[in-house]
Amino acid sequence: MPEVMAGPQKINAAAIAEQFGTPLFMYDAQVITETLRELENVLPPGIDVLYSLKANPNISICSLLNRAGAGAEVSSVAELMTAIRAGVAPADIIFLGPGKTSSDLNACIDAGIHAVVCESLYEMRLLEQAAAARNADPVPVLLRINPAFHSKGSGLAMGGKPRQFGIDEEQARAARPLLEELPHIDVRGFHAYMGTRFLNHKDVVSNTVQILSMAESVAADLGIDLFTVDFGGGLGVAYFDNEQDVDVAALGKELAEPVASFRARHPDCRLIMELGRYLTARAGTYVTRVLYVKESLGENFVVADGGTNHHMAAVGIGSFVKRNFPVRHLGQPDAPADHVYTVTGPLCTPNDTVVKRASLPEVRPGDLLGIERSGAYGPTASPGLFLSHGYPAEVVVHQGRAILVRERDTPEDLLARQHLADFDSAQ
Ligand SMILES: Cc1ncc(COP(=O)(O)O)c(C=O)c1O
Repeated sequence: MPEVMAGPQKINAAAIAEQFGTPLFMYDAQVITETLRELENVLPPGIDVLYSLKANPNISICSLLNRAGAGAEVSSVAELMTAIRAGVAPADIIFLGPGKTSSDLNACIDAGIHAVVCESLYEMRLLEQAAAARNADPVPVLLRINPAFHSKGSGLAMGGKPRQFGIDEEQARAARPLLEELPHIDVRGFHAYMGTRFLNHKDVVSNTVQILSMAESVAADLGIDLFTVDFGGGLGVAYFDNEQDVDVAALGKELAEPVASFRARHPDCRLIMELGRYLTARAGTYVTRVLYVKESLGENFVVADGGTNHHMAAVGIGSFVKRNFPVRHLGQPDAPADHVYTVTGPLCTPNDTVVKRASLPEVRPGDLLGIERSGAYGPTASPGLFLSHGYPAEVVVHQGRAILVRERDTPEDLLARQHLADFDSAQ
């Protein structure tokens, strides 16, 4: 039976697996661009979407999103280079992260990006020194604020509680004297990111309204004009039973009034939403090939050629309860799911369990399984070097064409950066 996946594009997973080998990540370009277009259609006009490369830093994914209108939010020099090489204009890039080094800060100054998002008062001083040493024009900065308010509904809260991220709102409000000591820094506005995996649009609306109001009031305390407010986002997608994707149409409707009234007061202020998972997760499938099917003490195990090493999110390390990502038998998508299997990867740890007791059609060695909704926080957020399997291949399917966008690591690749010490030589 042909191993075809139904999505917006009919993708022949078997042919792709044959051509590029497994395990691999396969991305449907159409899903990515349609997700962004749909979002832009429903959001109030003029909100700029920046793609958070941390979700999936592949340069071709970044390029697809940029061609569809997204800028970039980056957190390392490699991500900055990726965005620039993918074609993102520096004016549409921001750089954030709590641990920027001086080389990171220098790279931001040299690239002339929209803003460096400063996460501490000390970082502002370092940036001032870096800009002064380069005789640069004042560097545009957003202050990342850790708001005094809390937020509910996030799978992982990043603001509104003690965190290493950003500057506590109270400290930011008191920073006016500091700003006067930093002539090479131009604070243009604020950034706040409350957390990730919000599934209820009302939580995102509430965060946005509070962030906009906080930005106005902190700007007043600091005596600055507002030119940019980045209100984060954290839009989630459904992974598990009983979850639903965030309702972006409702989000757009409920943001219309608060955004319009903010705009009336700040017509020149750029509004930014930064999103990773929402833009890429649903487009990706992790394709593994079944190596063995075996039984242990009454439980049926499928051992596949990839697992935690590429897809820690599906494995759910760090969660108390193991919940399954959607999994499909790619060869028999429509056969009755009348068998129960625990699917594992090749690692030597019981944690390498990709799905636990999932109902699937009968599985045999050589079959292909697809873990769906896997386009975000895959290999780069996984312990890919454990057992030295290395990075999987990545393929983008664009207008029916399968394009290899990342070679899988070979054993030679993995060894290339190691040095065999000559322990026997005289010193
Ligand atoms: C500051 C910041 N921005 C953006 C993101 C991307 O979040 P998401 O993938 O939920 O959109 C994260 C994720 O951790 C983040 O910490």
